[in-house]
Amino acid sequence: MGGMKTATISPPLSDPLQHQPAAGDSSPVILAVRNLTKTYASGLQALKGINLEIRRGEIFALLGPNGAGKTTLISIICGIVTASEGSVSADGHDVATDYRRARMKIGLVPQELATNSFETVYDSVAFSRGVYGRAPNRVFLEQVLRDLSLWERRDARIMTLSGGMKRRVMIAKALSHEPQILFLDEPSAGVDVELRRDMWTLVRRLRASGVTIILTTHYIQEAEEMADRIGVISNGELILVDGKAQLMKKLGRRQLTLQLREPLTSIPAALDPWRLELRDQGRVIDYRFDTSDAGAGVPTLLQRLAELGIAYVDLNTQQSSLEEIFVRLVHAPGAQADAGAAADTAPGAAAGAHR
Ligand SMILES: Nc1ncnc2c1ncn2[C@@H]1O[C@H](COP(=O)(O)OP(=O)(O)OP(=O)(O)O)[C@@H](O)[C@H]1O
Ligand SMILES: [Mg+2]
Repeated sequence: MGGMKTATISPPLSDPLQHQPAAGDSSPVILAVRNLTKTYASGLQALKGINLEIRRGEIFALLGPNGAGKTTLISIICGIVTASEGSVSADGHDVATDYRRARMKIGLVPQELATNSFETVYDSVAFSRGVYGRAPNRVFLEQVLRDLSLWERRDARIMTLSGGMKRRVMIAKALSHEPQILFLDEPSAGVDVELRRDMWTLVRRLRASGVTIILTTHYIQEAEEMADRIGVISNGELILVDGKAQLMKKLGRRQLTLQLREPLTSIPAALDPWRLELRDQGRVIDYRFDTSDAGAGVPTLLQRLAELGIAYVDLNTQQSSLEEIFVRLVHAPGAQADAGAAADTAPGAAAGAHR
């Protein structure tokens, strides 16, 4: 906690225009990131003009490959790293000029665990709360510790806990001052199934109480399951932000597979409009289409097959997962516009040290 940043308290700002509801949604914007860039001292441009608005009460997942800039973005929002250009406001408070008030609103569970303290679980979490100037509240802290299955271990010294238990302590500390916005940077990395389940139960409960949750993850399934909206960051650029359902609908592909009774030597010309693919020595037909095409003539295709006397013994459809969509996006030509910057990033070069 020696690293806890101190800041002078700036005079109260008259309410900036941050509380206006975002277009098309009734919830107010709780976090606004504007034209944010970060160039590290090494010259590496980790963020290139990020613009993002998060609404109160949403679960937002930030997806991106290693080195994309996720931790840098979160670190700037939490005031750990300074931006090169642009601004961030948390519930109306600028994270640079009104640091203290902005930071009060935010809880951060960092990617790297830094807990090897002699302190007990309870004292450490209570101390965190005090750092933010919150009055002690045993009832609240007990609830947080119980939610994280830490209550029984409240008198244990943190250094004696397992890695997973330490991570729970980090979550409890991040929640200790009752933040309105919770950041979870790679919360599932190295976490067992039980902790992951507890964590997501807690996240859903927090959201229900009005807390906004922003998480980064490599586990696309997790984003698919948890998030309301998804942002994809690649090479320091936010290449896409969309509702999960819209994203899957817009970019998802479906595939219809037919197992034929008799093999075909080629696709009859009458079926050209569907651009079918024949495989497995003519025994299987694949038909790929965009989810947005709403059916894309599947009934007509099946009817035409019947007319041509092409019988099938089995039929199934598959929908592309968010994972496939993500891989396609990040590896699409143009997504990695600045390939030079990627080249000098060592594989797995990670967040760890900041500033
Ligand atoms: N303190 C630093 N000094 C110089 N470069 C840095 C520093 N911290 C991060 N970087 C670089 O900035 C880029 C973005 O790193 P960042 O940690 O934000 O990525 P990330 O998306 O969180 O990656 P990961 O998925 O591995 O956690 C990387 O190229 C990284 O090497
Ligand atoms: Mg990271």
